[in-house]
Amino acid sequence: MKLQSLRRAVFGMSAAALLTVGAAAPGHAAAEAADPILKDLAAAQGIYYGTAVTASKLTGTYAAVTAGQFDSITPGNEMKWGSVEPVRGDFRWSGADAVVDFAEANGQKVRGHTLVWHSQLPSWVENGSWTAGSLRTVMTDHIATEAGRYKGRIDHWDVVNEAFNEDGTRRQSVFQRTIGDGYIADAFRAARAADPAAKLYLNDYNVEGINAKSNGMYDLVRQLKAQGVPIDGVGLQAHLIVGQVPSTLQANIQRFADLGVDVAITELDIRMPVPATEQRLRQQKADYKAVTQACVAVSRCAGVTVWGFTDSDSWIPDFFPGEGAATPYDENYRPKPAYYGIAEALGWSGDTGPGPGPGPGPGPVSGCAVTYA
Ligand code: G3I
Repeated sequence: MKLQSLRRAVFGMSAAALLTVGAAAPGHAAAEAADPILKDLAAAQGIYYGTAVTASKLTGTYAAVTAGQFDSITPGNEMKWGSVEPVRGDFRWSGADAVVDFAEANGQKVRGHTLVWHSQLPSWVENGSWTAGSLRTVMTDHIATEAGRYKGRIDHWDVVNEAFNEDGTRRQSVFQRTIGDGYIADAFRAARAADPAAKLYLNDYNVEGINAKSNGMYDLVRQLKAQGVPIDGVGLQAHLIVGQVPSTLQANIQRFADLGVDVAITELDIRMPVPATEQRLRQQKADYKAVTQACVAVSRCAGVTVWGFTDSDSWIPDFFPGEGAATPYDENYRPKPAYYGIAEALGWSGDTGPGPGPGPGPGPVSGCAVTYA
C-alpha cells in the first residue's frame, strides 16, 4: 500500500487505537489534515458510522482502518447461532469475544448480530423435534445466554433478523412454523430481560423503500409497540444495486421513526457488475451519499453500518457471481469515490483524492430487489 493511501485510511486514530493495532505499517501517525474521518463527521451530525468486520482479520491495516474510520462495529458472522453454539451445549465465543474486545479497546459501539434468524442456524435447532413450548425455551435460553454474556457491552442487538417474505407475510422459519406469530414478541422480551441497556432491533432486507415487505414490518412494529413489547429500533439492511437507491428511503425511515422507534441502516453495500467502471463508481458515490443523507435527515436515524468497508471483505462476489466492488474502499484499502460520497453527506467538502472523480450520477430511482441464496 502506498504511504499516502495508508495515511488516508488510518488518519484520526487515537493513541489507544494505534497501540491496539500496532501491526499497522509505519507512517500511520502522520495524519493528513485534509482527509475526512467518517466517525468524526458522523458524530458531528449526531449519528454513528459503522462497519461489519471479520474477527480473524482484525490486525494490520484492516484493523487500523476499522479503528480509525468507524465508531461502531458489527461482527459479520461471529455472533450468529451457528457460530456460537453449532452443537447443543458446545459454546464457541472466541470470535465474538474478539470483536467486542476490539471495540472496547478502540472506543467503538457494537451492534450485536443476530439472536434469532432462520439462516446460519445449526441443524440441531433447524431439524429438531420441537413443540411450541420446547422451541420457545430453546430460543429464549439462547437469547439469555448470548445477550447475557455481553450484557452492558452491546449498543444494539438485532434480536430478530429477516422475519418477512417479500409480500410482507411472515417467513415460515422453524420459529414461525413451530411457535407461531408470538415468537418475535417472546424474543424481544427475552432480550430485554438479558440486557436491559441494549437497544433492541428488528432487522431485514428489501425494506429500505416503502413496499409490501416494509409495510408488513411497519404493521408488526405498530402492533408490538401497542402491546408494550420492548422493541427500540428497526434495521434496514440496504444491500443495494448501483443506481437503485429507493426514492422512498427517507420517507420510509421517517414513517418508522413516527411509530416511536429508532432506525438504523445496518448492512449497507451497493454492488455493481465487475470490473468496476469510472461511471459506475461515480454512480456508486452518489448512491452512498444519498443513503447517508437520508439517515442524517431523520433525527431518529441512529447511524449507518457498511457491510464490510473493503472490497476484499465483502460477501457479494461469493453470492452474486460477476458482481462486486460494493464497499467504500477497494481491495487494497484505497478509498473509492463512495467513501467521499459518504463524507460529503456528512458535511465534508474537500479534496476527493486520487482516482475517479466525484461527479454525481443520476438521482435515486424507485424499485430495488435483492435476492440471495
Ligand atoms: O467459515 C467457513 C470456512 O470454514 C469455510 O472454509 C468456507 C467455505 O465456503 O465457508 C466459511 O463460512 C462462510 C461464512 O460466511 C464465513 O466466511 C459461509 O460459507 C458463508 O455462507 C458465510 O456467508 C455469510 C452470509 O451472511 C451467510 O448468509 C457472509 O459472510 C455474511 O456477510 C452474510 O451476512 C448476512 C447478514 O448476516 C444478514 N443479512 C444478509 C447478509 C448478507 O448475506
